[in-house]
Formats: sequence, C-alpha cells, structure tokens
Amino acid sequence: RRVLSVASEAVPLVKTGGLADVVGALPEALSGQGWDMRVMIPAYRGVIDRLGRTTVVWSDPDIYGASAELHLGKIGAMHVMALDAPHLYDRAGGPYSDIHGDFGDNAERFAALCWAAAAVARDGAGDWKPDILHAHDWQGALAPAYLRYSGSSLPSLVTIHNIAFQGRVGAEKMGALRLPREAFHRDGYEFWGDISTLKAGLTSADAITTVSPRYADELMRGEYGQGLEGVIAARAGVVIGILNGIDAGVWNPEKDTDCIPFSANSLAAKSKNRKTLQAEFQLEKKIDGPLVILVSRLTAQKGIDLLPAAVEELVARGGALAVLGSGDAWAEDLVLGLAARFPGRVGVRIGYDEALSHRMFAGGDAVLVPSRFEPCGLTQLYGLRYGCLPLVAAVGGLADTVIGATPATLAAQAATGFVFHPVDALALRQATRRLCELYADRKTWTAMMKRAMKSELGWESSAARYAALYERLLAQ
Ligand code: ADP
Ligand code: GLC
Repeated sequence: RRVLSVASEAVPLVKTGGLADVVGALPEALSGQGWDMRVMIPAYRGVIDRLGRTTVVWSDPDIYGASAELHLGKIGAMHVMALDAPHLYDRAGGPYSDIHGDFGDNAERFAALCWAAAAVARDGAGDWKPDILHAHDWQGALAPAYLRYSGSSLPSLVTIHNIAFQGRVGAEKMGALRLPREAFHRDGYEFWGDISTLKAGLTSADAITTVSPRYADELMRGEYGQGLEGVIAARAGVVIGILNGIDAGVWNPEKDTDCIPFSANSLAAKSKNRKTLQAEFQLEKKIDGPLVILVSRLTAQKGIDLLPAAVEELVARGGALAVLGSGDAWAEDLVLGLAARFPGRVGVRIGYDEALSHRMFAGGDAVLVPSRFEPCGLTQLYGLRYGCLPLVAAVGGLADTVIGATPATLAAQAATGFVFHPVDALALRQATRRLCELYADRKTWTAMMKRAMKSELGWESSAARYAALYERLLAQ
C-alpha cells in the first residue's frame, strides 16, 4: 500500500516548526504499519544535493512560469520527491521568506507543489503510484482540491497542523493558481471574497485530521476555528484528531549524546546536566527553586506575553528561567527585558539551536508552554520524556498529553505536570506557585518525574490510527 505525503517542510531537510518533525517522522512510523510513504517537498536551495543520487520521475514544461522536474531520492530511510523548479524555490532565505519578509509568490510556489502532487497521485511517477494522497496544512491543501477538480476519485486527506495559516490570497489569483471558477463559492475555496487554499483542501478531501483530539473539537468553535469553524463543523463526521508522537531515536535521555545520559531509574546525571545548564545561561550557582526552561518560537500563539507573571512568581520563590527561541521582535524584546530585570535568574538565548534544546530538557526541572492555542505541541512531550515536567495551558494537544497535578490526580498517582486555565496571567501565576510548592516536596516531585518519563509518547499508536484511516478511505 502506498501513500504520497505532500508538505512544505520535512526533517531532516527543512524545518521551521513541529510540522517538519511530524512530516519527517510519519514515513518510518507508517512503514511499521505496512505503508510505503513518499514525501513530496519543494527542492529549496541545497535540498537535491542532500538527497545523494536522484532520478527524475516526472516533469512538466510549464509549471507556474517555467519548467519543473521531480527528483526521487533518499535521506536516511525516507523516500523524498523533491520538486525542482528553480524559478520558484532556488532562493536565499527560509522556505517562506527572506530578510525582506514573506515571498510575494508563496501562493504560486505551493500551488505548484500541489499541482505536481495531484498529477503524481492521479497518474503515478515512474513505476510508483499512490493509493492515497495525504496533504499537510495550507501549503499542501490544494493537492486534494486539484485532484477533485480534475474528476479523480483517489482518496485524500488533509491534516491541519495549525489553522492560523490559511493560504489566503485575493480572488484575482484564481487564474494564476489554476483554480476553476465554478468552485469559487462558500462550499468551495471562496473565503470572504478571497481564495483560501486550506479551505479548498478542507472542502475537497475525503477526511480531515488534526494533531490532537482536543484541537479537533476546538476547531469547530469560534474561539479557535479562525473563521473556518463552520467549514470544519459541516464535515464533523470525517474530522479526527490523532496525536503526534516524538522521534524516540532523537529524544531519548538514555542515549542522548548532547547531555550526560540518564533514565527514570538513575536520575543522578540529571542534576549534573542542571549545573551545566545553569552555567551555560549564566544563572546563579545556587538555585534552590525549580530551573524552568522555555524552547519556542517567540510569537503570540506561544503566550509569550504571559511570561512576566510566571517569572515574577518563580523568582520570588527561588527559581530561575532559561529561554531559547526566536521570532517576533516584541517577544524577543520581552524576554531580553526579563533577563535584564532578573540577572542571574533569567537567561536568554535568541536563536535556533537543536543541541542546546536537548541540553535544556536534560537539565531543566520544568518546561513552560503557556500557548494561547496549541494544535499538538512537541516540547511538552520532550519534557515528559526527559523528566522536565511540563507546565502547560489547558488547550489543544497540551491538555491531551499532560495530566495536571491536583489533589485527585496526585492521590491517584497519575499527575505528570501542571495545567492552567483560563489562559491568562493570573492562572499562570497560580500554577507557577503550585509548581514551586510541589518542587519543594522532593518525594512527590521525583515520583511525578518517573511517571512522566514512562509515559507512552512514541508514534506506534498514532501510526496505527493513520493506517486505520487510510484503510477506511480505501474501502469506501
Ligand atoms: P510549533 O510547530 O508551533 O513551533 P511544536 O511544539 O509542535 O510547535 O514544535 C516546535 C519544534 O521546534 C520542536 O521540535 C522544538 O523543540 C523546536 N524548536 C522551537 N524553537 C526552537 C529553538 N529556538 N531552538 C531549537 N529548537 C526549537
Ligand atoms: C504546528 C502546531 C503544533 C504542532 C505542529 C506539528 O506547528 O503549532 O502545535 O505540534 O504543527 O503538528
């Protein structure tokens, strides 16, 4: 059985967020379920070089302005189809933007990717033809739409990783994006007079998945659906939430080469890792309260504006905070301001650094994830795995994966972290206080750490859910 996955990012080739982790992890997870998954991404600058020997399996003389070739290659065990279209992808900068901001032709760039994916899904490429098309987010969502508009009945699904990004562009791009005028209506790809590529996919695909059960429910409500709640609610019967897993090879405290390895049964090295971390962030030598970490894009979604409340409480109770992240200027300024206000207690590294993030989970006592909304979230899962207890907002996948400490969950020996609600400064301050109080109760804290580290966090059960969904779509 074969499935074509189409997305704008995939680890280890290109990553700006969790989307890449998930797209990169699915092929191996699904091969365990007997599915042969290939991943189609744009050949951004340098991608083809990293695929080693490639073969051209498909081409088109005119794809959004010039010719394009599809290169099939491999990285690790992952089969990748990279769409080489230099006029669209051979640029300096990231996948969506450069130092001047977002590329003006992003709609065309990802429409081209989807056009190629739909063609391969329909007609195959070389000797390989998929049974299912699996598209991710607004960048992949036109693929099921093109399939449907061309009359193909190949089963397809769209996974929503983040509804905040909807691929919205003016209706004048209809011709440029090769979209049929007949489908420009409220049950098609029209969205408030504009085009939404995500909506095109949501109204065309046979199923819609998202990355946690809770977010699946939230998406049908006005507070979270960002205008698409009605579209999703109208398809409620085919919407399902499947939790992301973590890559157990990359995130394993017993084998992690970025820190001193440790396990639930031998936690001594964890305190050595903590010392290293304190030094690395120029924190005071003696921190009696919890050492809390934050590893995140610094944007409004991630609740960065709530940090002062948590930090004031934490510092007052003898704790400290280490921040690694980059993003919006206001948010970077905010965390740098906290470091200036609390020297020795708040350390900040602006940037992106995978190895440092491993050392932070290994040395941290708790990881803070105060997101306003969070489709799944991965850092709370890394935190669980590394005994770095998550303090999270009660939204989306955060609520689905962390069992907050309450008298009832502690008595039942079930608590694995701290959950606050509503998502505001007061509730976060209160949860931070609870965290500090429990940290002082070493016996309870250690029991929570061990429990967290033993949580089921891999891909196995979620991969089985995707496989079951694929089978169901095929049987229809
Ligand atoms: P999102 O995709 O919304 O950013 P996720 O929690 O799903 O949120 O995924 C974020 C991913 O990016 C995680 O793997 C996280 O460890 C990583 N990450 C985010 N910021 C940084 C950073 N500054 N340095 C290293 N890794 C980071
Ligand atoms: C998005 C979401 C995040 C999720 C990731 C992978 O980036 O913001 O919550 O974990 O996609 O699905």
